[in-house]
Amino acid sequence: MAEAAIDVYENEDRTFPPSAEFVAAANAGDRSMYDEADADYEAFWARQARELLTWDTPFTQTLDWQLPYAKWFEDGKLNVSANCLDRHVEAGRGDKVAFYWEGEPGDKVVLTYSQLLTEVKKFANVLKEIGVKKGDRVAIYMPMILELPIAMLACTRIGAAHSVIFGGFSADAIADRCIDAEAKLIVTADAGYRRGSPALLKPTVDTALETGAPSVENVVVVNRCNTEPEMVEGRDHWWHELMAGASVECPAEPMEAEHLLYLLYTSGTTAKPKGIMHTTGGYLTQVAFTHKYVFDLKPDTDIYWCAADIGWVTGHSYIVYGPLTNGCTSVMYEGTPDTPGKNRLWDIIERYKVTQLYTAPTAIRMFMKWGVEEPQKHDLSSLRVLGTVGEPINPEAWMWYHEHIGGSARPIVDTWWQTETGANMITPLPGVTTTKPGSATHPIPGVFAELVDDDGNVVEEGGGYLTITKPWPSMLRGIWGDEARYFETYWSTYEGRYFAGDGAKLDKDGYLWLLGRVDDVMNVSGHRISTTEVESALVDHEAVAEAAVVGAKDELTGQAIIGYVILRGTHSASDELGSEIREHVGVKLGKIARPKTVIIVPDLPKTRSGKIMRRLLRDVADGRQLGDTTTLADPGVVAEIAERAGAGDED
Ligand code: WTA
Repeated sequence: MAEAAIDVYENEDRTFPPSAEFVAAANAGDRSMYDEADADYEAFWARQARELLTWDTPFTQTLDWQLPYAKWFEDGKLNVSANCLDRHVEAGRGDKVAFYWEGEPGDKVVLTYSQLLTEVKKFANVLKEIGVKKGDRVAIYMPMILELPIAMLACTRIGAAHSVIFGGFSADAIADRCIDAEAKLIVTADAGYRRGSPALLKPTVDTALETGAPSVENVVVVNRCNTEPEMVEGRDHWWHELMAGASVECPAEPMEAEHLLYLLYTSGTTAKPKGIMHTTGGYLTQVAFTHKYVFDLKPDTDIYWCAADIGWVTGHSYIVYGPLTNGCTSVMYEGTPDTPGKNRLWDIIERYKVTQLYTAPTAIRMFMKWGVEEPQKHDLSSLRVLGTVGEPINPEAWMWYHEHIGGSARPIVDTWWQTETGANMITPLPGVTTTKPGSATHPIPGVFAELVDDDGNVVEEGGGYLTITKPWPSMLRGIWGDEARYFETYWSTYEGRYFAGDGAKLDKDGYLWLLGRVDDVMNVSGHRISTTEVESALVDHEAVAEAAVVGAKDELTGQAIIGYVILRGTHSASDELGSEIREHVGVKLGKIARPKTVIIVPDLPKTRSGKIMRRLLRDVADGRQLGDTTTLADPGVVAEIAERAGAGDED
């Protein structure tokens, strides 16, 4: 089996059953849903779709599966914004708080469901007025402010697909995504607060539009930080000016269940990010289902907080669509967890009496480093369920989360899923599953996973590749503009199975342990970054002739990006050049993709057929004993690289 990014936790045998008290009050307190779904998973999902959502036209067909194309609830019609907003307001819950929003500088907004609905209707009218129609794509490049979910929901109201671009991405990344999606409009803000000062966004959009994306006709700008950006006459419009004249009447348009809801670009194994397509009915069903049962959500009393960024799929599904469909009250926070102090999260939890916290292992490891004094300053007793997502969680981080945030009593849900899966796939249910620190445990009811070996044989115990064996409602419907790549990437490796790209282990008790990516995708602080993408940004620098990128183990970020580069003839190696090359990647792709280290090397280890041997470079980066080098064209190269990298090859 290809080498996965992290080690197997061979000796982890601690178990944590749910408490009797939790089970007694849980949304799911026994195995009945698993039994129901095992007996007939289509009927199970149909029941969830009917119970959790409101349909304008009820569906009569549950699933049409022509591998690799799934259609769920195809003849039904519904509107996402109506499910998230109108129906709660119509049921008399309009005064319920949808979001307690907190800006990084400490400014606060309390937004009720009826206020949110009004804003969404107004912005939907703004969209219509500037020519956005059903089926168009709208790019959104924003900080974590309330206008972001408002813009997303307004798109869904009129059937335009949004394509949210993470606010940390570069101008090139914006241009590429807008070109690929043929976006008509970009919604942005002048800036957002980041560690105490405005991080500018609008100038980045301007640069993106200078270089390309001719389909973009208009830019709508929220004034968040008063940074007075340049406004291009005829193209750029202030959000507040357009909203001032917008009507509050805007009926939600019923959409076909398979209508495109959004695109979200994610890194794959090539240099070009993939526009993952999610559609309306199936996506909303699974997102609402998992949000309700994985987080044991009690909409009348809970204050739920997913501390992710809406720029990633976690924010789409578990800040916007899941919580609003279920009519719950959420906290939304703009800034970083260390501003103004390292207790920011715990302070927010105490003040709002947060009941569910959903965060990432990389954040937990950072909190561990900051010390238990920070959470200990605060009363965290309101918490009921703790969630984690984005990368494998190491047992130490799991135990710290359990003890110091969960008071050794709250269930932890380690949720494995992907941009492509749309919603949680493998996770404990807090009132049912006995957990083990570091294991995501089992697939949810209605999802079926198996491990296979290199030849595609099913693995009953031990290591293998994670595959999903049946379609699921929130699965991706394709890659925007690239049908062949959809089949090729996910459905061609193992016949009849969805290949996730992750390695995993099944232990003797049937628990799943996710081990990280087995392809050329790195996971840095829970963010997916393709080695190829970083390599092309490196060779884009004029001094670089060739580059190879690997993810090395990193205690804090899970993996760290290490770039090995060969210089062009006229350039000579220096620390300055190394950091200049590193910065260049930051400019090309965004800061999150900037290598931690750039190592200038005389040559790269290649097989006789000319393929770069990343495994060896990973060994060098991790300081591990070097693996088999006999297939190398020039075995001497590795020793020389190891020396330059300052990594020993003995231990
Ligand atoms: C990894 C994030 C182990 C995995 C929702 C997957 C995880 C990739 C977990 C998807 C977890 C996510 N345990 N690994 N609980 N959650 N991953 O698309 O490698 O940003 O393939 O979606 O993150 O990352 P993506």
